[in-house]
Amino acid sequence: MPANDPRAKAPDHVAIIMDGNGRWATARGRPRLFGHQAGARRVSEIVEACPELGVRYLTIFAFSTENWKRTQAEVSGLMTLFRRYILKEAQRLLNKRVRVRFIGDRDRLDPKLVRLMDDLEALTEANDHVHLTIALNYGGRDEVTRATRRLAREVAEGRIDPDSVTAETLGRFLDTHTLPDPDLVIRTSGEARISNFLLWQSAYAEYEFVDTLWPDFTADKFAEILARFGKRERRFGAVIG
Ligand code: FPP
Repeated sequence: MPANDPRAKAPDHVAIIMDGNGRWATARGRPRLFGHQAGARRVSEIVEACPELGVRYLTIFAFSTENWKRTQAEVSGLMTLFRRYILKEAQRLLNKRVRVRFIGDRDRLDPKLVRLMDDLEALTEANDHVHLTIALNYGGRDEVTRATRRLAREVAEGRIDPDSVTAETLGRFLDTHTLPDPDLVIRTSGEARISNFLLWQSAYAEYEFVDTLWPDFTADKFAEILARFGKRERRFGAVIG
């Protein structure tokens, strides 16, 4: 890679809160699900843009532990959309050498959807061109709580000495234990909140809040944000220069 190649300064891991599907649809006088469908097409575009932009890890927030509070019609529409996305995109993701992982609590999800998720993970397991992680029924506090429960069990059964527990120990129990921490978190649609997304992992991440609604978030917009990231100076708590 040439020294001035923008990929040299690209964030290795980008996490995205894909917000604004509902407003995008409402602005067009269409049902909210229409916005989610348009949002799903953007997911494919952004995943495919990653290699050229130098992003190896992409994590997207598809459904939060709080999203169950939406109407039953919207929840079941989203679940159908996830199922269709997996069925429709599996082969393409495999061919594009994308490895797919899911994070979040699978216990509350339909077992048929969970089977598709497991199958897609297994199908793409040997890929390493892009690592796509889809957060589905995911909440940062819920993840830390589940991790703590598992860690507490190890301690109670005498396999881990409580005095030896460090942040790294807890990290091994998180859903994201095989992933690097995100370098950049993007949220679309003008809201400046993190909404329980990757709370532990984003301790030193940079944030970008952009006004664009997710269905309008193109690969070019993504590239613009990454170029801005390349100009930032990250200190990780230290003093530089
Ligand atoms: C937030 O927009 C979006 C969601 C809760 C769902 C995200 C889902 C997708 C982008 C669809 C497909 C994903 C995959 C992985 C196939 P919102 O509905 O809260 O928008 P609003 O704030 O304008 O109402």
